[in-house]
Amino acid sequence: MCATSEPSDDGDPKNIVLIGFMGSGKTRVGEALAQRLGRESIDTDAMVEAESGRVISDIFAEDGEETFRDLESAAVEAASARVAVVVSLGGGAVLRPENLASLRKTGVVFLLDATAEAIYDRVRDETHRPLLNVPDPVRTIRELLDVRRPYYAQADVVVDTTGRCVSEIVDEVLDRYHKH
Ligand code: S3P
Repeated sequence: MCATSEPSDDGDPKNIVLIGFMGSGKTRVGEALAQRLGRESIDTDAMVEAESGRVISDIFAEDGEETFRDLESAAVEAASARVAVVVSLGGGAVLRPENLASLRKTGVVFLLDATAEAIYDRVRDETHRPLLNVPDPVRTIRELLDVRRPYYAQADVVVDTTGRCVSEIVDEVLDRYHKH
């Protein structure tokens, strides 16, 4: 069912942390989850952009990926210090083990999983992700997924998003969050 529901706070202070590849739906699912629970939604990409006053593609172009990862780690640290929020991470934030370790102290980590084909379908018309602005994005998606799979596998809970709408994914995350 893809209907929307009224917000309802469950009183549980543990954060809901969403990880997954670019285009797996973390931001949209995070906002819908936050609305459903009456919680705040925070997004580490948005924190990096607000803190640096630049969009991510400019940070990559001007200072390189490592500088972006340093800014991202600082955003993760700040997000981990919050309670009872929904945190959406950039797709590569899991590459630094200390990021997941810190988020796990205050939250339950959910992987929003998707196939390379589903990811490509979702990102093909978007241009704001520097890592996918390449001649053969499908190949890049597969290569990055291969490298990142072991990192994503460290999630507490895996939720498949392929072929599912946001409200279905939210229902499953909430169900598994309450059981966790
Ligand atoms: C990245 C994912 C992006 C953003 C940056 C790098 C990655 O976030 O953090 O472009 O390395 O996978 P989304 O996953 O929200 O697109």
